[in-house]
Amino acid sequence: LSKIEIKLGDIPEGKNMTFKWRGKPLFVRHRTEKEIATEAAVNMAELRDPQHDKDRVVNPSWVIVLGVCTHLGCVPIANAGDFGGYYCPCHGSHYDASGRIRKGPAPLNLEVPYYEFPDEETVVVG
Ligand code: FES
Repeated sequence: LSKIEIKLGDIPEGKNMTFKWRGKPLFVRHRTEKEIATEAAVNMAELRDPQHDKDRVVNPSWVIVLGVCTHLGCVPIANAGDFGGYYCPCHGSHYDASGRIRKGPAPLNLEVPYYEFPDEETVVVG
């Protein structure tokens, strides 16, 4: 069981950083107030894989997801696409800033791994 510890102070607001965890890319995104408000307000009826933002985050400032497109496994690009979250260039899947699939062939939201915040400055994933 491998865990990864990430120092949150190294990730400025508005930025997504990619780590490697259990052989896969792991995205840690420090959301802006605007992103938090936008994702919290999304109507569930618009979603292909309906999940409220609050069920995908522990702290609304931080989105922690696997950087593995749920279509065929490419690595999406952060801060790109039509929904301001992630864009997978392989076949054009667009994810929002909660990691939810919004457009394109991917069937599911980006996977949220188990994680916890031992203190305000640290997240441990795994
Ligand atoms: Fe991402 Fe196909 S692998 S859209």
